[in-house]
Amino acid sequence: MSGPKGTYDVLPGSEFGATAAVREALLAPSRLAGYAYAEAPVFEATELFSRGVGESTDVVTKEMFTFSDRADRSLTLRPEGTVGVLRAALDAGLHKGQLPVKLRYAGPMFRAERPQAGRYRQFQQVGVEALGLDDPALDAEVVALAWQAYAGIGLRKVRLLLTSLGDAACRPAYRASLTSFLDGLELDEETRRRATLNPLRVLDDKRPELQAQLADAPLMVDALCDACRDHLTAVQAGLDALGVPYEAAPRLVRGLDYYMRTTFEFVHDGLGAQSAVGGGGRYDGLAELIGGPPLPGIGWALGVERTLLALKAEGLDAPGEPTLDVFVVPLGAPAKAHAVGLVGQLRAAGVAADLAYGDRGMKGAMKAADRSGAAYAVVLGDRDLEAGEAQLKDLREHAQVAVPLDAVVETLKEKLL
Ligand code: HAM
Repeated sequence: MSGPKGTYDVLPGSEFGATAAVREALLAPSRLAGYAYAEAPVFEATELFSRGVGESTDVVTKEMFTFSDRADRSLTLRPEGTVGVLRAALDAGLHKGQLPVKLRYAGPMFRAERPQAGRYRQFQQVGVEALGLDDPALDAEVVALAWQAYAGIGLRKVRLLLTSLGDAACRPAYRASLTSFLDGLELDEETRRRATLNPLRVLDDKRPELQAQLADAPLMVDALCDACRDHLTAVQAGLDALGVPYEAAPRLVRGLDYYMRTTFEFVHDGLGAQSAVGGGGRYDGLAELIGGPPLPGIGWALGVERTLLALKAEGLDAPGEPTLDVFVVPLGAPAKAHAVGLVGQLRAAGVAADLAYGDRGMKGAMKAADRSGAAYAVVLGDRDLEAGEAQLKDLREHAQVAVPLDAVVETLKEKLL
């Protein structure tokens, strides 16, 4: 029996076994920058996503896991985190306090996409959202935090693509000029339909024959109003000051409709088709779209699976679970009773410790000690107990010393911490 299509299991040693450690590592820079932990429900009213993410997106039209509850309310498993976190912050009135409201989150998202390497129906994101200000210095901070997240886990081949999608002042005119450009092209029916829904999305089409036709398409960055241009210039200056390299990406199109002004994506070249390891941008109109007050915001989400695949592509180890320091091997019932207490004391002292459960003999227990990866074994036989000592084995050097029972914890702490 296996899990549903497009899902995977996180288990020790499995492809995404390091999920929890990677989530934590990716969010570490944001935590230091004052982004507080937030968690919104895994499902919300369907309308929240159709309004927030956008009726013209693939996410809303084709990919949502939607169901009715027993009272016939339409609910949807969240396809992304921004809309829910914003809804939660508005509900709690956080926007009436100190601004910006800085939040970080992590968890599963759900999209009924066609599964392939790096694309799943349940996948993990970490993300941040900074709400309440449209300060370009804040955009630079947000983008830099993602950059630092990748650098912090050792990735070197991540590229930052950056552009501006304009705002309500300049995008409508640009959209009109792009539409009239597209009207003059030979497009198939499906592409024509996409052009009507959202002409910008046509720019993202990967087919070379269409890309050739789009070579002279008007670009948003060339049509920005002064305010948007100044904003972009200030964001770029902020990134320069923070030492974050970026590439201008005038054709960057995101799969969600709420973006305006600063928009970005992180790509990794070792991943094949699913090269976007993260993405985000500014969404100053979103709060109103979901029934809230006008409230600017910017954020990103990083894909945990793709980050793990990128680490693998670069030949890097993922951050791991803490390795065991000490494995305690009791031989006989009185020794076992003592060993249980000893393991408790070691853990309380911050030492990662485990015990040979199952009353195995010396040989089997020592094999378990070796397999555990611990640096030290404490062997405790009934005779040791009578003598008031334990045998401390260094499992790497294969050396052994007798240590008084009441000094075992201190001795190991000195060696390990
Ligand atoms: P997104 O670009 O849709 O943005 O997703 C962010 C990242 O999630 C992607 O770059 C990718 O790494 C990962 N991802 C998306 N779909 C899948 C999938 N089916 N399987 C595996 N990984 C996937 C957002 O979700 C926005 N909420 C980001 C944001 C936050 N914008 C502003 N604030």
